[in-house]
Amino acid sequence: MSDLSHKPVADLSEDEARQELERLAKGIATANIAYHQNDAPEITDAEFDALTIRNGEIEEAFPELVRTDTPTGKVGAAPAEGFAKVRHAVPMLSLAKAYTDEDVVDFIERGRRFFQKDEGLEIAFTAEPKIDGLSASLLYEDGVFVRGATRGDGAVGEDITANLRTIADIPHKLKGSGWPRSIEIRGEVYMSYAEFQALKERSAASGGQDYVNPRNTAAGSLRQKDPAVTASRNLQFFAYAWGATTEDPAPTQYDAVQRFAAWGFKISPLMERARSVEELIAHYHRIEEQRAALGYDIDGVVYKVDQLELQRRWGFVTGEPRWAIAHKFPAERATTVIRDIEIQVGRTGTLAPVARLDPVSVGGVTVVNVTLHNEDYIGGRDSNGMPIREGKDIRVGDTVVIQRAGDVIPQIVDVVIEKRLAGAQPYQMPQTCPVCGSPAVREVNEKTGKEDSRRRCTGEMICPAQAVESLRHFVSRGALDIEGLGAENIDLFFNAGLIRSPADIFTLRDRRAEVQRALAERREEQARAREAVSGKARKNVRSVEDRNYEGLDKLFAAIDARRNPELDRFIFALGIRHIGETTAAVLARTFGSIGKLEEAGKEMVKAEDPMSVFPSVDGIGSTVVEALVSFFANQRNVDALDRLLEQVTPQDYVVTISADSVVAGKTVVFTGTLEKMSRSEAKAMAERLGAKVAGSVSAKTDILVAGPGAGSKLKTAQDLGVEVISEDEWFARVGR
Ligand code: IVH
Repeated sequence: MSDLSHKPVADLSEDEARQELERLAKGIATANIAYHQNDAPEITDAEFDALTIRNGEIEEAFPELVRTDTPTGKVGAAPAEGFAKVRHAVPMLSLAKAYTDEDVVDFIERGRRFFQKDEGLEIAFTAEPKIDGLSASLLYEDGVFVRGATRGDGAVGEDITANLRTIADIPHKLKGSGWPRSIEIRGEVYMSYAEFQALKERSAASGGQDYVNPRNTAAGSLRQKDPAVTASRNLQFFAYAWGATTEDPAPTQYDAVQRFAAWGFKISPLMERARSVEELIAHYHRIEEQRAALGYDIDGVVYKVDQLELQRRWGFVTGEPRWAIAHKFPAERATTVIRDIEIQVGRTGTLAPVARLDPVSVGGVTVVNVTLHNEDYIGGRDSNGMPIREGKDIRVGDTVVIQRAGDVIPQIVDVVIEKRLAGAQPYQMPQTCPVCGSPAVREVNEKTGKEDSRRRCTGEMICPAQAVESLRHFVSRGALDIEGLGAENIDLFFNAGLIRSPADIFTLRDRRAEVQRALAERREEQARAREAVSGKARKNVRSVEDRNYEGLDKLFAAIDARRNPELDRFIFALGIRHIGETTAAVLARTFGSIGKLEEAGKEMVKAEDPMSVFPSVDGIGSTVVEALVSFFANQRNVDALDRLLEQVTPQDYVVTISADSVVAGKTVVFTGTLEKMSRSEAKAMAERLGAKVAGSVSAKTDILVAGPGAGSKLKTAQDLGVEVISEDEWFARVGR
């Protein structure tokens, strides 16, 4: 299968675009969760931006493929469980970004063009640091702080009032007078370096957790269940904006923020008013010069149109104001040496090279590993053969420049060739799997004839690395989610020979004594390790074991509790390539039972054109069909599945159909622009009413609902004599 991630949008087929949108939605969602929910970013800001930009471009080129769960316009992840939800009356927005001076010029030019009819108008701007913390919205009623919330996904945040109250910079009562009767003050909660360092030291002394960076620590501190913990973290707050208010705080951004200061808030001392690009950029550099001395993280400078009237006129795009932009600082860099390149083998057999580095601090975080993606990347080329790092390859012993942008996963941006050791050899990817010895190959995409950039181990289930990873996946969150059977226990039971394939999980109870022994051995080993570190003798192992008998029963109960999984989880758990949670749900809906899916799978294997066996379904393209074929073509997979089905009975997927629905059982296609609801909502509604929603028009289509701008699908429907109705007619028919 080829890597589509570098294929120009214009060259994508519909199927490829769909796959890419799936990949991007997943990537963006994962990154959002890592960043906003778990406070542990996994990709760089620039990588994140690249994903969103590509997603937007594909959506624009293929509007009919926009996903139900499109990441467009979603600012962050949905709020974490545990705190009450707060719907922001005025959404908490994100900011467009500028990376270069030209981007800033463009921003100003866009403004000038927008207001061009307004001759003689002078647009003023504010410039202030972009603080790298968490935004919060503080509601003041009659000058009294009554509720505070996180940004969450921009629309709905979490009520963290009790925690925010512990922050000294947040006044419980506003000072002075003349504040609006009700106003939401917005700004950034952050942790200073000094406070971060002190916390790290306290934690190290008491054997507590390690803290990665101030931003994530501030985020974690705000989400504490116990406000006393938040209070102990000495967080700080800068006010820089506002949300819902009964009246404007002032006619300009600058004066509004000055009033916040008068009301008792801390505001950035580096905020200034400017009237030209030159002034803005000069201020950017002044702030950049002071960056290191500030004592807290900032990652750029925010420019905003000063006059509120102009802000209102210029308005918003999805999730962002047009009238503001964040001019980012360049990413932080450091130099280090590659000591070794190791290969990790993933669930689908992908060989992932990882560079082991001499530990190096980049922007306050120690980096020891960095992913090298694949052999093309190591060789200095991307998957289209275009040079990266000016074509410089990466070798063991090389001195390299590491970059970390916005507190996330580091990457190698350059190789210092002058420091290359004499005799250093180009890195050779192993041709066999380092774990199981099976050949590791680069597959060739049948359609494009191009080699995949990644090498994959062909050992499948013979390969212990793939087997373990598949088992880990099987019990993971979105899959069977078996409590108490995390990655660690899977490794343990796998190595002890207790679990080789998913079915074995469900017979563990029959091998209680062996399970017991494996757990006991690990405890012994851990105790020995602790002893080695602390020098203290072991004590009282007995009582720990007693507790573990109880633990075992719990584990077996948790396993039994998953003997009737939902069909979509079960399909996802199988770990078939290209079948993520969304696709698994589509397959569950389409086939209704695992028996039907297996039947279709086997039929596809025999069919000359597997696509013909497969009903035309929105969200399923040839990639998924090919993945199903290759899964069912492998007898080992079929046997493993059948053995699993002796232990587990997935629930059939039942659609709740309103019996009297006139569209029940009909195949419906939506095309063009829908005006009353989004396409995804329309789709969900049709499905609730028992209709099947397809992505393309064929002779099997019963109804085409065509909105304005309908194109080829409308024509096909007319040619095929399919009934075509408008959105209004659709609603009249389904009774809404
Ligand atoms: S203004 C309508 N000003 O950046 C504009 N945001 O990317 C709303 N941020 O969620 C934001 N410093 O967490 C603004 N001086 C500043 C900021 C700032 C940091 C953060 C904030 C926001 C994010 C947007």
